[in-house]
Amino acid sequence: MKIDVRLEEAPARVSEIFIGEDLIERVPGALEKALGTRSAYWIWDETVWGLWGERVESLGWLMEGSGRVIPFRASEFDKRMASVELLARRLVNGGANRDSAIIAVGGGVTGDVAGFLASIYMRGIPCFQVPTTLLAQVDSGIGGKTGVDLPEGKNLLGTFHQPEQVYIDPRFLTTLPDDELRQGMAEVIKSAMIGDEVLWKFVETNFEAIKRRDSNTLSRIISASCLLKSRIVQADEKESGVRRTLNLGHTVGHALERLTDYRLRHGDCVATGMVVAGVLSNRLGKLHAEDLQRLESICETWAMPVRIPASIKSEAIIDAVRADKKRIGDKLHFIIPVRIGKVIEFTDIDNGKFKEVLQALGAG
Ligand SMILES: NC(=O)c1ccc[n+]([C@@H]2O[C@H](COP(=O)([O-])OP(=O)(O)OC[C@H]3O[C@@H](n4cnc5c(N)ncnc54)[C@H](O)[C@@H]3O)[C@@H](O)[C@H]2O)c1
Ligand SMILES: [Zn+2]
Repeated sequence: MKIDVRLEEAPARVSEIFIGEDLIERVPGALEKALGTRSAYWIWDETVWGLWGERVESLGWLMEGSGRVIPFRASEFDKRMASVELLARRLVNGGANRDSAIIAVGGGVTGDVAGFLASIYMRGIPCFQVPTTLLAQVDSGIGGKTGVDLPEGKNLLGTFHQPEQVYIDPRFLTTLPDDELRQGMAEVIKSAMIGDEVLWKFVETNFEAIKRRDSNTLSRIISASCLLKSRIVQADEKESGVRRTLNLGHTVGHALERLTDYRLRHGDCVATGMVVAGVLSNRLGKLHAEDLQRLESICETWAMPVRIPASIKSEAIIDAVRADKKRIGDKLHFIIPVRIGKVIEFTDIDNGKFKEVLQALGAG
């Protein structure tokens, strides 16, 4: 499958996303064509390099003259300016110039850091992404947001820099730990809730196949999720309107991550955040109880938390939500589901009602 994301630039630019079980074999040919005379610098998640390096090297990924591999220790702790500077110096010392390109191979951390570096290196060079976690394949690898964290908060420094091409092969997920797969599944479920009821049903009925990394099944869910995200990004690249729907579950999710010092994982927090949005919507008379039940049970099937730990105070969640950089003005704004496959933005949420919902779901 191939998805073109047309961006409102003059001249118009297209970011191409290729998805399929044969991408690992096709990358060298595709890259050679896309790079032209540019030299390539690879930034690899070092774990992924350890697992896949030999295999892809034997397939000719590191072409003659452009085989510079820079391994990167990809942890959230390393997603910071110091790493960007270090990588930039490796590029300079390796001879990278304005006619070079960066190819990022790894999860969201590698993609965000390498994409950020590409956007500022010598005022910007092209970037290619090869996402290797499910989260990166359905979410962070597409859409062009890049960035690093500050001690004060996540993703506070960043740019929009669309990748030239994205190569997504679900076979990379065969080495991905279950815990990481679950984090990505939370984003898939989110996409389905936002705008794809067919995908929702497919996920509901294909738990086993996804769990055992059946590539055909994974290809389908990745394609559907990417199509949905790319349509939204195409309509609103810089997040002034419809792109905000992608924040479903994230308003409360981010608050839970911050309040637990990131001990709770992103996808898990998004799942709980979606349930909060669902219960709120149900209490506002906008989401049918049956759909709320389906949301809770799909999260439970995937062992995602649907309740808030009692040690987290509802007031603290409300404060954290208010401090979120994505808040609009003074109002608490939420993306809430109105049925499977449809969400709306709701900006008039009463503090009292919000608190009741948080407490009903276990918050202190
Ligand atoms: N740019 C965006 O639009 C966007 C969107 C969502 C999330 N993000 C960012 O993405 C990051 C999270 O991404 P992530 O969940 O991919 O985390 P990650 O990059 O840290 O990867 C998770 C773990 O999986 C390992 N790994 C990666 N691919 C593997 C494979 N194929 N086999 C075995 N292990 C593998 C990594 O080494 C790492 O330990 C966060 O920093 C978040 O802010 C960005
Ligand atoms: Zn997310």
